Amino acid sequence: MALPPIAVLGGGNLGSAILTGLTDAGVQDLRVTTRSAASAARYAGGPVTAAALEDDPDANRRAVAGAGIVISGVKPAGTPELLRTIGPALAPGAVIVSLAVGTPLAPLEAALPAGVQVVRAMPNTPVRVRRGVTGLARGSAVTDTGFAAVQEAFGLLGEVVVLDDGAIDRISTISGSGPAYVYLLLERFADAAVGLGFERGDAERAVAQTFAGALALLDASGATPTSLRRAVTSPGGTTAAAVAVFEERDLGGLIADALAGALRRADELAAR
Ligand SMILES: NC(=O)c1ccc[n+]([C@@H]2O[C@H](COP(=O)([O-])OP(=O)(O)OC[C@H]3O[C@@H](n4cnc5c(N)ncnc54)[C@H](OP(=O)(O)O)[C@@H]3O)[C@@H](O)[C@H]2O)c1
Repeated sequence: MALPPIAVLGGGNLGSAILTGLTDAGVQDLRVTTRSAASAARYAGGPVTAAALEDDPDANRRAVAGAGIVISGVKPAGTPELLRTIGPALAPGAVIVSLAVGTPLAPLEAALPAGVQVVRAMPNTPVRVRRGVTGLARGSAVTDTGFAAVQEAFGLLGEVVVLDDGAIDRISTISGSGPAYVYLLLERFADAAVGLGFERGDAERAVAQTFAGALALLDASGATPTSLRRAVTSPGGTTAAAVAVFEERDLGGLIADALAGALRRADELAAR
């Protein structure tokens, strides 16, 4: 399927990651807007047409003209206002894709003219290297063609999981926030390695390559994490001693508590 022109309103962390992934996938007509001229300048000289509200208060309405997919990448608090602004300028048949955490479909649809197609998307930052995971939830007015175009666009950026609206905040605690948990683990493992006497650079390299190598092996072998873990964990050996400490300290409970904290915060954002 040939993708329509795509506008990303709010080219920050996630918006720019999506644009980089789409550019690398060969998508042609891409537009981006930001609030400040300094942020828009980061796109200068590249294939994405950028405009800043600071220079042109009409930049969002101009960016959506003729766009078939409009991705709203501003913070959750600013999303309804942005949708109200662009509603009258949307091309017929355009699909709005909201990235806002904790913002269900209903208030998004209410901020737009009746019948406008709205999809909620929960990507993560590895979309930048086309290795992302994106949860998609389809709004009430979305046509099969409209949804297929959005699935196609996010499919260029990694895995796509189709979910109910209510499940989007739950997947955001896993895949949306997940890269941060991975980096936190890398930081703590590297700290522990420094505690064992290694230079920080050596510790960081060894830890990062261990995670990357373990995942590459998982991918290449088609085995389960449990069987690969067991293969490394000889009974009574050194790995078993470390795994026993993780289990005694209830690693699984700690992770469940962390995800519950993220979900509570999504609920708080939704209630605002
Ligand atoms: N970061 C993640 O991994 C992640 C994951 C899942 C979902 N999300 C969701 O993605 C959205 C963006 O998050 P983020 O981390 O990318 O935020 P961010 O880095 O702060 O980016 C927001 C961008 O929006 C621009 N902006 C603000 N108001 C605007 C307006 N009215 N029109 C056009 N552009 C405007 C900002 O411009 P300036 O740069 O000039 O201020 C900035 O570039 C949020 O709704 C968040 O809930 C993020």
